[in-house]
Amino acid sequence: MKLPIVAYGDPVLKKLCTDIDQTYPDLQQLVQNMFETMYNASGVGLAAPQVNLPIRLFIVEIKADEEEPAYKKVFINAQILEETGEPWAFNEGCLSIPDVREDVIRKPNVLIRYYDENWTLHEEVVTGFPARVIQHEYDHIEGKLFTDKLSLLRRQMLKGKLDNIAKGKVHTDYKMRFPKQNKKR
Ligand code: NI
Repeated sequence: MKLPIVAYGDPVLKKLCTDIDQTYPDLQQLVQNMFETMYNASGVGLAAPQVNLPIRLFIVEIKADEEEPAYKKVFINAQILEETGEPWAFNEGCLSIPDVREDVIRKPNVLIRYYDENWTLHEEVVTGFPARVIQHEYDHIEGKLFTDKLSLLRRQMLKGKLDNIAKGKVHTDYKMRFPKQNKKR
């Protein structure tokens, strides 16, 4: 089942998300729904707060290309323990912030500890594009958006566009939930 994606401006995107445990109801179904929602929106990552759940869960799926093999993982209760390397800029977007793309500077390597969908604990170093997606999704469960990482000037320039997104004045091919949409028609 596809879930509506929460748009910029919704308070759930600002929440520090909480850990879950093995008693969390219907987790496998939720993970499956999140993948379906992400595929439908052509995303490479999706975090639970983007489907209105303030829990520490996100998914990543990157298709294989000439340089890297496919990368598909579920991250539960993730903690980034270390970020290392020379910071680099990458043009990021977000399914909660349609039609906005900005260069974001992050370090290239992350050491992350997390449970997978079978509740197996992992601790691993991830580099390159998968690391970039993980950092972006991890920010979501920490209540942060990539726009928070931009300069004050860039944020001021984007303000009108972001306000419009919150009001639902944006077109997407996937279903969204807008915090400030006028309910009257
Ligand atoms: Ni995002």
